[in-house]
Amino acid sequence: MNRIIDYLKEKRAYNTRGFKQDFMERCVNRRMMDINIQEIDSYYNYLLNNEEELERLIQGLIIPISRFFRNPVVFETVFSYILPFLLEKKKDNSERAFRIWSAGCSTGEESYSLAILLKELFKKETEKFLLNIFATDIDEKALHFAQKGVFGYESIKNIRYEWIKNYFKSQDEPFYIHDELKQAVYFSFHDLRNEKNIVPPESIFGCFDLVFCRNVLIYYNIDTQRQILKNLLKSMSTGGYLILGESESILPQHQVDAKKLFRYSNIYRKKM
Ligand SMILES: C[S@@+](CC[C@H](N)C(=O)[O-])C[C@H]1O[C@@H](n2cnc3c(N)ncnc32)[C@H](O)[C@@H]1O
Repeated sequence: MNRIIDYLKEKRAYNTRGFKQDFMERCVNRRMMDINIQEIDSYYNYLLNNEEELERLIQGLIIPISRFFRNPVVFETVFSYILPFLLEKKKDNSERAFRIWSAGCSTGEESYSLAILLKELFKKETEKFLLNIFATDIDEKALHFAQKGVFGYESIKNIRYEWIKNYFKSQDEPFYIHDELKQAVYFSFHDLRNEKNIVPPESIFGCFDLVFCRNVLIYYNIDTQRQILKNLLKSMSTGGYLILGESESILPQHQVDAKKLFRYSNIYRKKM
């Protein structure tokens, strides 16, 4: 197995940078099962002579799985606690723009879920607020899919029926997202491991009120997680919120910068 991982790292140093060893091993095992090769040596030899297989193995490091309102309790907390609080703060400071980043957005469900929540929040307001959601990923195919805004039943099954009626053009498969949501989200390529440019290029300066980075850190080793988390925290405004996945948390050295708000979900607030 080590020979395969070393070969992978040698041939695709950039793509494999920072991934956990055991995650890469699981990807190799999955590929072996897919093509019905049982012996690790046979797979190694197969890989040596097969550029296409190398590509497929690299693609396996990207897990483009998402759905609308994945982990509903997190979105419920954002909707009923965090967004109303942010709204009041904006009003007090006479600010009009909400800046949100969905980092590792995959096929777009997370970003569009956030757009729905913000649109719902703004509904009751007499003043006009601006919504800028930046959604980034390293998977060009997933970004392309996200931009199209067409989803199947599996993706949308956590959405309230009322919101399906209001935010989709159709109430049956395929579900086409409304243009008003599409216009609120800017999709682009951005690698969270990039040490020079730490925010999505379109956002220009970061200063995000809310950063969602869910189910991305789990694939990376501690050093890479540390670097990604440091940059995410830098990209946020003071008092901004960071929302991580169920099995993800900030590292001890970041606890001076951010405080965990709830026991039941990994929501952090950047300290003042
Ligand atoms: C499992 S999906 C999570 C999607 C969404 N955040 C959610 O929780 O439903 C993980 C996504 O992270 C992306 N990703 C992995 N490494 C990344 C990196 N270094 N920079 C940006 N995106 C990354 C993958 O391409 C994939 O689309």
